[in-house]
Amino acid sequence: MATGIGRQTPCALLLRTRPALNHALTSLANPSLFSARRLFSLSFSSSSLATNKQHKRGPQPILSLLEIGGVKIGKDDVVRENDPTNNVTDSIFSKIGLQLHRRDNHPIGILKNAIYDYFDANYGGKFIKFDDICPLVSVKENFDDVLVPANHVSRSYNDTYYVDAQTVLRCHTSAHQAELLRRGHSHFLVTGDVYRRDSIDSTHYPVFHQMEGVRVFSPAEWIPSGLDATSYAATDLKKSLEGLARRLFGAVEMRWVDTYFPFTNPSFELEIYFQEKWMEVLGCGVTEQEILRRNGRLDNIAWAFGLGLERLAMVLFEIPDIRLFWLTDKRFTSQFSGGQLGVKFNPFSKFPPCYKDMSFWINDSFTENNLCEVVRGIAGDLVEEHPHMRSVGESRSFKRYV
Ligand code: DAH
Repeated sequence: MATGIGRQTPCALLLRTRPALNHALTSLANPSLFSARRLFSLSFSSSSLATNKQHKRGPQPILSLLEIGGVKIGKDDVVRENDPTNNVTDSIFSKIGLQLHRRDNHPIGILKNAIYDYFDANYGGKFIKFDDICPLVSVKENFDDVLVPANHVSRSYNDTYYVDAQTVLRCHTSAHQAELLRRGHSHFLVTGDVYRRDSIDSTHYPVFHQMEGVRVFSPAEWIPSGLDATSYAATDLKKSLEGLARRLFGAVEMRWVDTYFPFTNPSFELEIYFQEKWMEVLGCGVTEQEILRRNGRLDNIAWAFGLGLERLAMVLFEIPDIRLFWLTDKRFTSQFSGGQLGVKFNPFSKFPPCYKDMSFWINDSFTENNLCEVVRGIAGDLVEEHPHMRSVGESRSFKRYV
């Protein structure tokens, strides 16, 4: 599992280094040293080894030249088999440029547009939107410019995809904050694909999508309030994000949790009470003054937030597995359409689609149960009625069996 930028987990760092792997292997050879905690470190070992180039071949052919946000990207520039400073695989390269967040009928695009609508409605179109910025960024942009400490675990080759020692696939959309501030923007939203080396399960995938929001205030805005600049920004931030959460989830209970991010102080997480548990929605805070100072905004105060679109979309659309977002199968893509936030996902067979309709004449005495007997007799006990084909057409026997 990759480590979030906000979390400080020195013990996770320890577990994910190569010496930890060696130690785990030694422990395996010596059962008396073997403990549950070491087993945990071993479970990460395959990803530590993934820099080994023999794992890099993906099954499908992929485009070898892309253009994103005006930047041309050649596959050979990003995947370099013999370069020890490069750990980008073919399968990761194949995701660059797919930009699920720019597809209006895809759950990720639908959610992005709903958030855009919220900001447009509440800020009269002041927030400028960026969703086509190239994901190849410098180490400086990804980490240094947002004050990620030199020894932070997220900088490791284990957690981040390095193109070379100075260039990464961005691991968060915060990588664009500094440049946009420098360019003079004071209200902006950045949406993009982000990349983190990660474990394999239904909630983790090495490519996902984030949205970053930044708002800068000038002294003329906070002075009349009588509040100090930081309290003014924090109050505005909380109000704005509570409104967003209500727009997405309805009248839910919410709470603010203090946390740590290198780029904000104070830093918070917003949680909502949804489907009987507290769920983290986003991270945010008042931008570190040092970031503003370095980017020509010394006299200002700002807030920033970052949210993971998959996490929210999985809840809103009831999509149970993060890998489903990448399907091009019509059985997935046809379930969603632009503007329809929160349509509930209908599960389908994990087997490839196989359309074979069959019609036959029946006499009046033939019942549904007669049909079931015939089907079960031929297809065996594991045959199932397709849940979404029930009561299609007028006849009781128009059903689909898979
Ligand atoms: N970059 C953070 C992450 O990827 C998310 C985040 C948190 C962004 C707080 C922000 C922020 O702008 O203020 O985990």
